[in-house]
Amino acid sequence: MTETTKPLLAALKGGHPDRTPIWLMRQAGRYLPEYRALRAQANGFLDLCYTPDFATEVTLQPLRRFDLDAAILFSDILVVPHGLGQTVWFVEGEGPKLEPLTGTAALDALDLAAMAEKLKPVYETAARVKAALPAGKALIGFAGAPWTVATYMLEGGSSRDFLKAKRWAYGDPDGFQRLIDLLVDATVQHLEAQIAAGAEAVQIFDSWAGALDEEAFERWTVAPIRAIASRIRANHPDVPITGFPNRAGTLYESFALHAGVDAVSVDPTWTVEAIARRLRPHVAVQGNLDPGRLVAGGPDMIRRVRAICDRLAPMGGFVFNLGHGVLPSTNPDHVAQVVEAVRAADADRV
Ligand code: CP3
Repeated sequence: MTETTKPLLAALKGGHPDRTPIWLMRQAGRYLPEYRALRAQANGFLDLCYTPDFATEVTLQPLRRFDLDAAILFSDILVVPHGLGQTVWFVEGEGPKLEPLTGTAALDALDLAAMAEKLKPVYETAARVKAALPAGKALIGFAGAPWTVATYMLEGGSSRDFLKAKRWAYGDPDGFQRLIDLLVDATVQHLEAQIAAGAEAVQIFDSWAGALDEEAFERWTVAPIRAIASRIRANHPDVPITGFPNRAGTLYESFALHAGVDAVSVDPTWTVEAIARRLRPHVAVQGNLDPGRLVAGGPDMIRRVRAICDRLAPMGGFVFNLGHGVLPSTNPDHVAQVVEAVRAADADRV
C-alpha cells in the first residue's frame, strides 16, 4: 500500500478514500485501563512523554483495541515550552503548571537548539511508532499553536480569562509578536522533526483561539499558523496540515480561507449543515461529535454519529473525529460502538 492510499491522508487532502477515516483526539489517555497502568509505572506525565518505551506503547494502545485509521504521537503541546527551557510540571487532577514567563527579557533565555536536543526522545518515539504501525494506518504528529502555547507560558497554566496574555497581546503587540515569532520557529522545528522521524500528517491545536476577537484572531491565530503551514508545505508538500481553531465561532470561516491549512478540525458547536456549506468548500473537515456523547453512550450517541457521517462523508475530504478530546470518564465500549457506527454508515451508502 502506498502512503497516499492511506484513508486518513487521502481524506485530509480532499479525496474520497474507500472508507471514512476515523481517529479521536486524546484517543490515548486515562479512559483506558492499560494507559492508567503504564502511567502508574512512570515518574509523572512528562516522564511518560520522554520515555520512548512508554510513549510508543501508549500511542499504540488505542489501535490495539479499536479499528482506527491513525495513531497520534503520544506527547503534549507543552513539551515545546519545556524544551525551550521553561519549567513545566503536571499536577494530577489539576493539569499543567508552568513557571510563568515575565517580560521580554525572559524571551532571551528560551533556546531553540536546546529544544532540539531535549525533545529527541519524542522523535525517537515517532520513529518507533511508525515502524510498528499496521498497514493503512497513518501517524499524526502535532503541536500547539503559538497563541495557545503562549497563554500557558504567560498564565502559568490553564486560565479562565487569559488576562496576562491579553494585556501583553492587546497592549504591546510588537513585544508580544517577538514571543509569537519565536513560537512559530519552535513549532516549525518541532513539526519538521516529527515528520523526519515518520509523521505523515500534522495537526496544530489552537485550543484557546475562541478567546480572541476578530482582529486578534487574524494576528495571533491565523497569521502564525499560516506562517507555520507555508514553511512546512515548502519542505513537505505531501504532508497534510490540519488546524483546530477551537470554539472560534464565525471566525472559523476566515481560518479555513486564510490559514493555509489542508483541513480544519471542527468543534461541537457547528451544525453539520454549516460545516458542509461554509467550511467544506474551502478545506477538508474533521469532527465534530461532542465528547460528552461518548461519555453518555446509547442510541442518541449513534444517531449523532450517523447524522455527521451521512451529511459529510459523501462530500469526500471528511475525517470522523470528536469536536474535542476524549474525556477520562468515557467507557471504552462506547468508542468501539462509535467506530462500528462509522463503518456501518459507509456500508449503508454503497
Ligand atoms: O491521544 C492524543 O490525543 C495524543 C496526546 C495528547 C495529549 N495532549 C496527552 C495528554 C495531545 C494531542 C494533547 C494536546 C494538548 N495538551 C492540548 C490541545 C488539545 C486540547 O485538549 O485542547 C492542550 C491544551 C494540552 C495541555 C494539557 N495537557 C492540559 C490542559 C492537560 C490537563 C488536562 C487533562 O486532561 O488532564 C494535559 C495533560 C495531558 N495531556 C494528559 C494526556 C493524556 C493527561 C495527563 C495524565 O495522564 O495525567
